[in-house]
Amino acid sequence: MFHVIERLAEELRRARRVTVLTGAGVSAASGVPTFRGAGGLWGSFRAEDLATPEAFARDPRLVWEWYEWRRAKIASCEPNAAHEVLARWTIESPHHTVITQNVDDLHVRAGTQRLVRLHGSIWELTCWNDCGAPRWRDERVPLPAQPATCTSCGGLARPAVVWFGESLSSDDVNAALAACSCDVFMTIGTSALVYPAAGLVQHATAKGAFTAEINLEVTPASSAVDLAIQGNAELILPEIAAHLLKRV
Ligand code: OAD
Repeated sequence: MFHVIERLAEELRRARRVTVLTGAGVSAASGVPTFRGAGGLWGSFRAEDLATPEAFARDPRLVWEWYEWRRAKIASCEPNAAHEVLARWTIESPHHTVITQNVDDLHVRAGTQRLVRLHGSIWELTCWNDCGAPRWRDERVPLPAQPATCTSCGGLARPAVVWFGESLSSDDVNAALAACSCDVFMTIGTSALVYPAAGLVQHATAKGAFTAEINLEVTPASSAVDLAIQGNAELILPEIAAHLLKRV
């Protein structure tokens, strides 16, 4: 383990631009449930019933109940050492970027700069009827109206997250693609199954980046990266950070 951590630290020491893609595994140690694997949300719930526009059109109250439950859970969680190391790197260097699939905003709470939130935020809402109101932030748990309403037109509001079958914001995708032109690209705590996020590591390889993965288990990205480290992000990232501090 020491060897691979030292190897990645060496690459990071030499790198100017560093980009990190994160997934639910980065927030697991904070107590936020992941989607797949043991205890994952998609083991107990069906995405088709809760995380698609069709599901919301059918039963907005049910979908909001699920989001209210997740919002309450996330509200009780704090950023962990993985969020903190990644945030510190973006504060120390304008060339470090974090792209996340997580909607929990724990990267935001840790102070991450220039964060790209590919799947939106569970703390933001938008008008279901597209009345033209800009998305807004509301961190109240629970929200006063069930289901939540649009602050502008009074119609239904929805969580400002990307659901299955929906497109990501083109600004976010472009920012993520631009960040793939980097020296080191790391994919951390993601099952690497959901596109387009899962394709970013190949894009970074094509752009000449050294690529690495940190994950508890083997994923489809493991064989594609230059260095796959199996372990907990909240333990390995602080170890890497400690190596970086040792020798400059
Ligand atoms: P997943 O739940 O699919 O995968 C979480 C990954 O984190 C798994 O590969 C775990 O092995 C790994 N993991 C768990 N704990 C870890 C730890 N402490 N340290 C390191 N790795 C750990 O979550 P995502 O890949 O983020 O999309 O899922 C991608 C998207 O699918 C989500 O954004 C969501 C979901 O459906 C939408 O809702 C659109």
